[in-house]
Amino acid sequence: MLTSFSVTGGTSSEDLAKKIAKKLKSKFIKCELRVFPDGESKITLAGIPKGKVIVVQSIYPPVDSNLIRALSLVSQARKNSSQVYVVIPYLGYARQDRAFLPGEIITMDLVAKMFKAAGASKIIVVDIHSMIALDHLQIPATNISAVGELVKYFKKLKLKDPLVVSPDKGGIERAKHFAKNFGTDFIHLEKHRDRKTGEVTIKSTNYHEVNGRDVVLVDDMISTGGSIMKAAQYLKKQKCGKVYACCTHALLIGDAEKKLKKAGVTKIISTNSIPCKTNTVDLSPIIVKAIV
Ligand code: R5P
Repeated sequence: MLTSFSVTGGTSSEDLAKKIAKKLKSKFIKCELRVFPDGESKITLAGIPKGKVIVVQSIYPPVDSNLIRALSLVSQARKNSSQVYVVIPYLGYARQDRAFLPGEIITMDLVAKMFKAAGASKIIVVDIHSMIALDHLQIPATNISAVGELVKYFKKLKLKDPLVVSPDKGGIERAKHFAKNFGTDFIHLEKHRDRKTGEVTIKSTNYHEVNGRDVVLVDDMISTGGSIMKAAQYLKKQKCGKVYACCTHALLIGDAEKKLKKAGVTKIISTNSIPCKTNTVDLSPIIVKAIV
């Protein structure tokens, strides 16, 4: 018997949406997407959403197109339901949560307003870039952590005296949480990013703990791969063992994968918040828990 949910997913998250629908024993409504020659998205839903509607859509590249598609789905769902839950496993624009340089626009604030205006009643995100970004959302919002699921995967690997490493101070809590679940210790590196050029440097921290140990570099996302590449190069110089790159959101822009391989990364492990070949960890169980 069907529950009172119906689930739809933008084409950027269709597989994950289907998994969520299956676990909720709910109807999955397919979304057909046509992109006009000028770039506009034309969406057609293959059914009428009923009951509580779950819209699943990650906002990864093309970010602006996927954002408008998510908003369109929410707006359509709202016409048929007063309860529209929006699952945005990867929330693009969350890094624009504050102004770092004078004149910078906090676009996350606008994104939050748009979801409210479109009719979202609740938003569920996974490992959002920062709690400041979450605070911009003006409706009930839950951030769930993929760390537990990622650790389950790492527990199956036979790592040598593993050490969890955050490439920067901002990731300390994540690394701490990961290390605690994994039953090991953690350190963080000192990353500096040039706000104008985006170039990343890792400051020497004189850590000796890494010698001979397999390392799990943990971050919320890998975008260009610059942060993990520099961190891996630094750790290799310190004579660590194997380096694993672990993230929730693998954007892997351009030649990021190649760069990481060249820097000595043995394997990249990510979740299915963004469909790509490094997806090893399925988020549907923890998303369903957050919905019901
Ligand atoms: C930054 O604070 C984030 O946590 C990630 O470290 C960053 O966004 C990764 O970007 P990239 O792969 O381009 O260095």
